Amino acid sequence: MTQIIRDRKIKFALIGCGRISARHFEAVFGDETGGVRPNPDAEFVDICDIDPGALETACKKYNLRGHRDYREMLAVTDADVVAVCTPNGLHYEMGMAAVENKKHVLMEKPFCADLMDADNLIAAARDRRLHTFAVLQVRYNNTIQILKKLIAENKLGKIYSAAVCVRWLRPQKYFTGWRGTRRLDCGTALNQGIHYVDILQWLLGPVRRVVAQSATIAHSIELEDQISSLIEFKSGVQATFEFSVNTFPRNKECSLYISAEKGSVEISGDAMNRIEYWEIEGCERPDLDVREGNTYAGGLYKGSCPNHPFIYNDVIRVLKTGDVNYINGDQARKSLELVLTMYKSSAEKKFIEFI
Ligand SMILES: NC(=O)c1ccc[n+]([C@@H]2O[C@H](COP(=O)([O-])OP(=O)(O)OC[C@H]3O[C@@H](n4cnc5c(N)ncnc54)[C@H](O)[C@@H]3O)[C@@H](O)[C@H]2O)c1
Repeated sequence: MTQIIRDRKIKFALIGCGRISARHFEAVFGDETGGVRPNPDAEFVDICDIDPGALETACKKYNLRGHRDYREMLAVTDADVVAVCTPNGLHYEMGMAAVENKKHVLMEKPFCADLMDADNLIAAARDRRLHTFAVLQVRYNNTIQILKKLIAENKLGKIYSAAVCVRWLRPQKYFTGWRGTRRLDCGTALNQGIHYVDILQWLLGPVRRVVAQSATIAHSIELEDQISSLIEFKSGVQATFEFSVNTFPRNKECSLYISAEKGSVEISGDAMNRIEYWEIEGCERPDLDVREGNTYAGGLYKGSCPNHPFIYNDVIRVLKTGDVNYINGDQARKSLELVLTMYKSSAEKKFIEFI
């Protein structure tokens, strides 16, 4: 069993002080508006970035020890957990290096970019009694929590079909540096779509088979910018997944529609963050606070909801109590497998069966 840390704060280190690191720092230090409160049970001890500007900015803002080389940081840090916030194609090597240095890992999405890498990382952590925490924070949208409960309590009756539409825009100028490259971005559905593939499989899985077709239509990038998929679940539910970053002039919607025996429900908004439609026998429509998706790069694009504090609370609870209920590598592997199988189906132009 993993050692329980009762008498002190949980210590975090972080690799990659770019856009998403702000959400990680906020989860520990709180934000300037007071919307996110500082977490009394967590502290950052070391951070790393190869970009001296990004590193210096974060070190100064939060008064932290900085490192330019993640292996050097791992060799000296006394952190309990290392958050991996670098480009997608680097997640595996950094997660593995952290585990080899006896650190729990908090992996930004996608958990890894390859299924065998994910399996190796999960196994390496398990062998050392370490945790693999996965940042799939969209599960904490209040809309999604409500749907999860409705399904668990069988309030929808038999589910017939579901449809996810991610009609987002990432303008060409979003795709600079690592973004849009095969080696480091690894897939647009893998990068932007994975949260919503995860929701689909979390609510309705396990999957029986998948067929998909992807294309690069409106961008000059090495990856797909849209993909359409039909997913059949073992329960018999049929679902469609329509994903695009070609929705001009801006994000149109990110929605999930479920049709079932006792009625229908649709959650939508920019990031599955609003109830759009609710007609369910015997269930009143809930009144929800709407949390908006994050805006990045000075308003260039809007992403998923800023629920990182929930993930940090999970990490802290698990390490302080020994609880095993959290979003781990095994769970993240499922959505990773689903996206990678969509790619395989698109390349091979056929249905792919899940075991
Ligand atoms: N959970 C979410 O909703 C969410 C949202 C946005 C991004 N992300 C994920 O977060 C990760 C980072 O995305 P971002 O938007 O912050 O990218 P970014 O480019 O803004 O930041 C990445 C940082 O990693 C640094 N870096 C690159 N190579 C490095 C190395 N070898 N050692 C140390 N640092 C290195 C870069 O210098 C940069 O500062 C990606 O995996 C992305 O998919 C998650």
